[in-house]
Amino acid sequence: MSTSTDRPTPIDTRTKLVGLLGRPLGHSFSPAMHNRAFQTLGLNYCYLPIEVTAEDLATVAAGIAKMNFAGYNVTIPHKIRIMDCLDTIDPLAQAIGAVNTVTIRNGRTTGYNTDGIGFAHSLEAAGEPSVKNKSVLILGAGGAARAIAMTLADQGATRIVICNRTESKACDLSRDVNRQGRECATAIPMDAATMAKALRETDILINTTSIGMHPQDQQSPIANHLIQSHLVVCDIVYNPPLTHLLKMAQEKGCRIVRGIGMLVYQGAASFQLWTGRDAPVDIMRRAIRP
Ligand code: ATR
Repeated sequence: MSTSTDRPTPIDTRTKLVGLLGRPLGHSFSPAMHNRAFQTLGLNYCYLPIEVTAEDLATVAAGIAKMNFAGYNVTIPHKIRIMDCLDTIDPLAQAIGAVNTVTIRNGRTTGYNTDGIGFAHSLEAAGEPSVKNKSVLILGAGGAARAIAMTLADQGATRIVICNRTESKACDLSRDVNRQGRECATAIPMDAATMAKALRETDILINTTSIGMHPQDQQSPIANHLIQSHLVVCDIVYNPPLTHLLKMAQEKGCRIVRGIGMLVYQGAASFQLWTGRDAPVDIMRRAIRP
């Protein structure tokens, strides 16, 4: 039985382990966020950072499945390679083509992707309860864009426009989203006139590129004149907490959604998969405030 306490839970033979597999892990907020959550709920779990090379990944994953692990997170550069090491892959993670969370039950491993769900929950928490019937424009076509596009398509977004520096990658992602069954995605080139036109018909703008991330704090993925006041503007960059894009959007009167929310809610979704408990999101957010 668990009790609420702020005292560290002693590590003993009943302790369930979870962890983060990636390399390098130096900057990760996940250990602090999850360990604080376990501690607050009095759950006998411990979250460990585990640096692992690509060559050792399969061996480490096989070893972990035989130990007292409830599961683990996976980060750069192993989110795709880990899929070959698992027993089952959840359909959404399969569509995304990457896994960031693994559960282990009776020695069997299942891979999930909570990045897109984390983003959707962060939108919800910021007062945007559903993407159903919404038109979304995504800047970028990398791993994060893929997770968000697939998840929002799954959740019923009417239109998903993907705009990327390398246009061929935007076309590939748009095609992959449409292959999932709903013909809702299109790709556009990253030129001002095309973007301005698309943004007039957009409800939610999401930056998934790294532009604006510290130390490039003064950069924005789009020019100020393209930001229109009817938009909900989201940035998945969380350092700085208020990016240049979000500052400009705020000044125009747009509603904004900060990147820290996606980080917390993807972790909260992993926490729920491992423990079966709702995650204490406010506590997790406080544990990682940059
Ligand atoms: P993540 O997993 O965080 O999504 P990623 O897969 O490396 O990271 O993707 C980064 C995205 O940011 C890509 O869409 C990239 O555009 P390209 O496909 O053209 O490389 C985009 N990006 C990064 N730096 C950029 C820049 N300076 N200008 C425009 N787009 C940029």
